[in-house]
Amino acid sequence: MNHDTIIVLDFGAQYSQLIARRVRECHVYCEILPYNAPLSEILAKNPKGLILSGGPASVYAPGAPHVEKSIFEQGIPVLGICYGMQLTSYLLEGAVKKAGKREFGLAKLKIKESKGLLAGIPPATNVWMSHGDSVTAVPPGFKVLASTDNCKFAAVVNEKKKIYGVQFHPEVVHTAKGKKVLENFAKKVCGCKPTWSMESYVKQAVHNIKEQVGKGRVLCGVSGVVDSTVAAALIHRAVGRQLSCVFVNNGVLRMNEAVQVKEMFKKRLKIDLHYEDVEEEFLSALQGVSEPEQKRKIIGRTFIRVFEKSARYLMKQRGAFDFLAQGTLYPDVIESVSVKGPSAVIKSHHNVGGLPADMKFKLVEPLRELFKDEVRELGAKLGIPKELLWRQPFPGPGLAVRIIGEITKERLEVLRKADAIVTEEIQKAGLYYSIWQSFAVLTPIRTVGVMGDERTYDHVCAIRAVHSSDGMTADWVQLPHEILGKISNRIINEVRGINRVVYDITSKPPGTIEWE
Ligand code: XMP
Repeated sequence: MNHDTIIVLDFGAQYSQLIARRVRECHVYCEILPYNAPLSEILAKNPKGLILSGGPASVYAPGAPHVEKSIFEQGIPVLGICYGMQLTSYLLEGAVKKAGKREFGLAKLKIKESKGLLAGIPPATNVWMSHGDSVTAVPPGFKVLASTDNCKFAAVVNEKKKIYGVQFHPEVVHTAKGKKVLENFAKKVCGCKPTWSMESYVKQAVHNIKEQVGKGRVLCGVSGVVDSTVAAALIHRAVGRQLSCVFVNNGVLRMNEAVQVKEMFKKRLKIDLHYEDVEEEFLSALQGVSEPEQKRKIIGRTFIRVFEKSARYLMKQRGAFDFLAQGTLYPDVIESVSVKGPSAVIKSHHNVGGLPADMKFKLVEPLRELFKDEVRELGAKLGIPKELLWRQPFPGPGLAVRIIGEITKERLEVLRKADAIVTEEIQKAGLYYSIWQSFAVLTPIRTVGVMGDERTYDHVCAIRAVHSSDGMTADWVQLPHEILGKISNRIINEVRGINRVVYDITSKPPGTIEWE
């Protein structure tokens, strides 16, 4: 199915992905391209509308990111947001200057005409501003649609050419009717039909996978996290038993995790799952290792070795594999072309990139077009339980980076019990899904305590809970004292080997979320 498409040209804004997500939430398909994508590439997508994103530069600064002026002459509606609006103005002979004062925060938008882009928006509505430069004169043919106290040109239009500009950020939640503005642009201005839905995606993806795979066989490494599970379920829907999954128990999983993953794949999803219990192999490779990066490397390397062995075993049993499935998401795809360059997002290690050259697989990446929220929606459609889809993120190297110092079986057992208590209490308090990550860390520090009449000399356990939206920055959670008290009591009473519990009150930056 060909969807009516909106293209976002990315000028390096923090919020470019958010623009695309908001448009898709209105069921209109939207893709992101870097600002310097050639016009031919943009036109090849047959866009019904273009959105020029915000960005940190000043349009008049040397080397500032620009687009060709001819982009405004294609008969395709354009919406410039913040920097995108300033650039539109600059290129079409308006004027842009440094504002006397940076405007940051909420402002009241006063609308002159509640139609077209601003149809259905109340005449006085809150919008989010974040800019240092301002348009000081609109280009010929433009008129003002709305203003704020500090910004005369808060929304402008050239009606004949369907070119719009907004100084505020419609994509952020602080802008009261922001999504409506984007929806108006996509549907009313550009005339896009709302065909993008998870139902239509499933149909299309199943069709595409069938076509790509044919009678071939697909291998998929799964770890029980959202992306690989949803990818596997989708491929399974398309090609059924032509898919085999491999699940490696690396010995640093949480309590009952291996059992839960096995049950879900085998019983609920009915997917062919090959289970490799190689705890011992991982633990002996990790023996005596304390340095965090060293731990990560060893786990990554061991994983690839085990995965390769499983693949060879399965090939002997059931015939060769032609395809390797990966749960690559759209943000990874965009990052590779973004103006921002490689980002610091940490890729999960189950991303099996380093398979030997003699194993020649083609890739199946059925989630390449999707944002994380969409993957969750898709997962729900495929029957994956909510508890898995909304599970807090868990690092690839698992508990290995939550045991400070050397990893031993005993330490793992201690941490597993403490971690399970943290999760249980956070869940009971109804906080689990609103917290980004909450977990226990086992430190090598031992302190003196008393239990009954006895002196103890046991480990300190730290509790960590953070709010975050993407893991790049985080705030420590102000957990109610009552919950902290329960967690602490339970850990000390129920977990042998821990006699002191502390709470980590460091945000990121300067701390990281994990302790290692
Ligand atoms: P940090 O500790 O860097 O973590 O603030 C940011 C996010 O990334 C996760 N994390 C990892 N995920 N492999 C992963 O797959 C890793 O080596 C790794 N290290 C950290 C962490 O749990 C948090 O969500």
